[in-house]
Amino acid sequence: QILVTDLSLDTGVQELLVKAEQEGIDTAFQRAREQEPHCKFGLTGVCCRRCLQGPCRITFNGNKGVKRGVCGATADQIVARNLLSLIVEGATPHVEHAREVLHTLLETAEGKAPYEIKGKEKLISIGKKLGLTVDGVELDKLAQEVALTALQDFQQQSGVSHWLRLRAQDQAIEAWEKLNLLPSNAHLEIANAINKTAMGCESDPVSLLLAVMKMGLVEGYDGLHLSTDLQDVIFGTPRLVKTQYRMGVIKEDYVNIAVHGHIPMVSEKVLEWSRKLNNQAIALGAKGINIVGVCCSANELLMRQGVSVATNYASQELAIITGALEAMVVDAQCIMPGLAQVAECYHTELISTLPNIKVEGASYVDWTPEEADKMGEEIVRRALAHYPERDQSKVRIPADTTEAYAGFSVEQIVELLAALNEADPLLPLIEAVAKGDILGVVAIVGCTNPKVKQDWANTEVAKELLRNNVLIVASGCSAHSLGKNGLLSPDGLQYCGEKLANVLRAIGKANGLPALPPALHMGSCVDNSRIDDLLVALGNRMGVAVRQLPVAGSSPENHSPKALSIGTFFIAQGVDVHIGVDAPITGSPLVEQALTADKGEFPVTTDELFGGKLIYEEDPIQAAQTMVARIIQKRKALGLVC
Ligand code: SF4
Ligand code: FE2
Repeated sequence: QILVTDLSLDTGVQELLVKAEQEGIDTAFQRAREQEPHCKFGLTGVCCRRCLQGPCRITFNGNKGVKRGVCGATADQIVARNLLSLIVEGATPHVEHAREVLHTLLETAEGKAPYEIKGKEKLISIGKKLGLTVDGVELDKLAQEVALTALQDFQQQSGVSHWLRLRAQDQAIEAWEKLNLLPSNAHLEIANAINKTAMGCESDPVSLLLAVMKMGLVEGYDGLHLSTDLQDVIFGTPRLVKTQYRMGVIKEDYVNIAVHGHIPMVSEKVLEWSRKLNNQAIALGAKGINIVGVCCSANELLMRQGVSVATNYASQELAIITGALEAMVVDAQCIMPGLAQVAECYHTELISTLPNIKVEGASYVDWTPEEADKMGEEIVRRALAHYPERDQSKVRIPADTTEAYAGFSVEQIVELLAALNEADPLLPLIEAVAKGDILGVVAIVGCTNPKVKQDWANTEVAKELLRNNVLIVASGCSAHSLGKNGLLSPDGLQYCGEKLANVLRAIGKANGLPALPPALHMGSCVDNSRIDDLLVALGNRMGVAVRQLPVAGSSPENHSPKALSIGTFFIAQGVDVHIGVDAPITGSPLVEQALTADKGEFPVTTDELFGGKLIYEEDPIQAAQTMVARIIQKRKALGLVC
């Protein structure tokens, strides 16, 4: 007997899981249990399906069983190849995301797409850093130049990624150059990586692991940074917003539309048209149109528009099970195919929007930059048409909501700190770190995974770190876990060590707030770039490399390959990365040690080469303590109070 209280920490999700069972509807939570026990060959990475002589499954514990595939491939080779494939699959959706954003910017600049350039300052600062002429140049012209420069990162056959040069620290570029890791063109790098993993191609596991690290840089710069930068140019840079979390944000007396996925060009247009057509909902007897977010579409609209968040990845199906969604609009990444089956049980229309990403069982209202308004209007009109079809007997919306703050772009953080020191805003933060009032900074990022009790590991890691005076920055679905549980609000100060709490009160007070929340929500998964920007800004101000900073990253409930590719990017920066669900690497002692061992245990470790390593730990308290120990180690190396 599985108890719903073991599946999720979110009482609203628990309530809906009971409803789902009563109505005979399957969700990811049950399906995850049906898959147990999981295949050990798959879990450890030693299952190879690269050719038709296989599939080959070789020993996962080094002794019992077959030691080589039909072609002679060893565990080290198979695991390294599989890992590279996985990292490519993690990075590619972000690279494609970035490419869609740059085309939208280009078409907007050329007057072909119905978006605006709201982030004038960001555009000018990027233009300057790219070495473009900025003074006296019209905004549209500059936006076009910036977009065309970005496009070179998908076209050039040699040279270094412009976005890497734009955003990376000089000392990091130097170190990566020595290892021949500087990417040139994101698409070319992806093709090269797939070519390496193809049957009968690369088999040197060390070279494959270096390709993994290079793919991490592709992810970081032409995925994350490029997406965030150009999204800020189009939609504006986020500023502090207040919002509500949990299923209770779905409102019974409104026409409800959930936006789910990652692409703000879709969700922003749905929001815009919901405002334009709000009166039509009133004409239908509703109080208006209510947009709620799921996953990172939620983060994008939350960060810039303060839109409330219904739920995160693992419970996406349950938002429909409230019976009160007229439409769920999806674009790309983290869209469960199971949504279609759930939507069929209600009046909810599942609408897929990307011409390249079709969802079986969904209707299609295609987004293109030029047709964005048509898409937005059509989607909202369809939702309005479904409102009278709602079956009231099937509606049950869990009541609770939780207050949260978000919108912590680096620009916003600097502005808040400027209230303490206008001339040198980062200094108060650096002084607090130096004195030990802030022991370090950890980014809690990534997913929820139905293998883990939803939101539990994310919040437990955060609370243990806060108790140790570690400041949290957050993104993605993990930020939603923290939001649902009060850690994105000043109320979360109760979990902080006294020193950290005092710092947060001081910054808050200088800005007319009771305190800053203990976890600063920095945005969507692509906005992990903002976390990187913050680290680079701190490193540069302190005159040290990012790898020296007392910081770490943590993804306690990781499910997506994207979490691993983002983690790879941070390891390449020299930041330790904790995961709570293991990567499929333990079948190869070489790969496992290269990524997770301390210096000296293996001839080549990421710790030695980059200054960061992978930490796998299921127990959230232990994970937090391991990160704290490493933070103290890095503090000692910097000569800081411990
Ligand atoms: Fe087996 Fe080698 Fe083919 Fe992989 S590539 S399936 S190990 S024969
Ligand atoms: Fe995401």
